[in-house]
Amino acid sequence: MEFRRKDLLGMAELEPEEIRFILDTAASFKEISTRSIKKVPTLRGKTVVSLFYEASTRTRMSFEIAAKRLSADTVSLTVAASSVTKGETLEDTAHNLEAMAPDILVIRHQASGAAQFLARRLKCGVINAGDGLHEHPTQALLDLLTVREAKGRLDGLKVAIIGDIAHSRVARSNIHAFTKMGSRVTVAGPPTMLPPHLEDLGAQVTFSLTDAVRGADVIMMLRLQLERMGQMYLSTLREYSTYFGLAERHLKLAKKDVIIMHPGPLNRGVEISAEVADGPHSLILEQVTNGVAVRMAVLYLLMGGGEKG
Ligand code: CP
Repeated sequence: MEFRRKDLLGMAELEPEEIRFILDTAASFKEISTRSIKKVPTLRGKTVVSLFYEASTRTRMSFEIAAKRLSADTVSLTVAASSVTKGETLEDTAHNLEAMAPDILVIRHQASGAAQFLARRLKCGVINAGDGLHEHPTQALLDLLTVREAKGRLDGLKVAIIGDIAHSRVARSNIHAFTKMGSRVTVAGPPTMLPPHLEDLGAQVTFSLTDAVRGADVIMMLRLQLERMGQMYLSTLREYSTYFGLAERHLKLAKKDVIIMHPGPLNRGVEISAEVADGPHSLILEQVTNGVAVRMAVLYLLMGGGEKG
C-alpha cells in the first residue's frame, strides 16, 4: 500500500490497513538496532526537530535515536531554555523553527489539539508525541507491535486498560488502536477517573480491576497522573493502590500467558507492584525497545518512504 500522510496526529484518524503497514515497517526496521553499526542511510539529508513542552524520557529519546539510526539530522529545542520563556507563542515558535527548513516537527504539548493546530499551519510534517489528554499515537503503535509480537495476532484478544483513564492520552490512543485491530478492550478505574462516552469508542467499562483482568490476554496499567489531577480524584494513594494496583494475585485471574504492559514512567507500589513490573509476564522494556522501531517507521513513512516509485 501507499502511505501518503503529511502528519501523524492520532490513532482515531488511521485506517486498520495503515496501522498494519506501520507495524510491518517497524518490524522490518527492528533488525537495524541489533547490528554492531546501528545506522542506515535511508533519511540522510533530512532534518527532524523535537519540541517538547512537557517532560519525557522514552518518547523524546526514542525519536532522537530512531532519526539517528536512519541518518537524519536531529535538533531538540529545550523549551525551558528557549524564547518560550519570554512569551513566544506556540505558533510563532513553530513558524520560526519551520523557517530553518526541517522535514518533520515532533511535538509534545500540554494542550489537547496542539499538534493538530500546528499541522494545519505548517508545511513540514508534524508528529504528535502526546497532546494533553487527547492522543499519543506512537505509544499506541509500539503497544500494538509489542502485543502482536507476543501473541502473534491482535484480533480477538481481551485487552484490559486499568487506572486513570480520564487523564490518559495513552488510554485514548490505545482504545482506538486495539478496537480498530479487532481486540476487545475493557477499561477499569475509579468512577472519578473514567470519563463519559467510553462505550462510544468501543470499550467496555467496569469499576472493578478483578472484572477487567479476568480472562485478559493483555493487562495495560496506566500511570496515576498526579501532576494533572487535583485532590478531588482520589482520597489516598493507599486506597487507590488497594483497589486499582496490580499485584501478583490478580494475574491468576487472567490467561496463563497474560502479558503486562505499562507506558512508563512507573509509580512502583501505586498502580503496579514491583514484583509484577519486573516479573516474567512483564513486557515493559520490550515496549521501550519497540518504541525505537515504531518511530523509525513513522519518520520513514511520513518522509515519503511508503510511496510507490
Ligand atoms: N510513555 C511515555 O510517553 O513516556 P515519556 O513521558 O517518558 O516519553
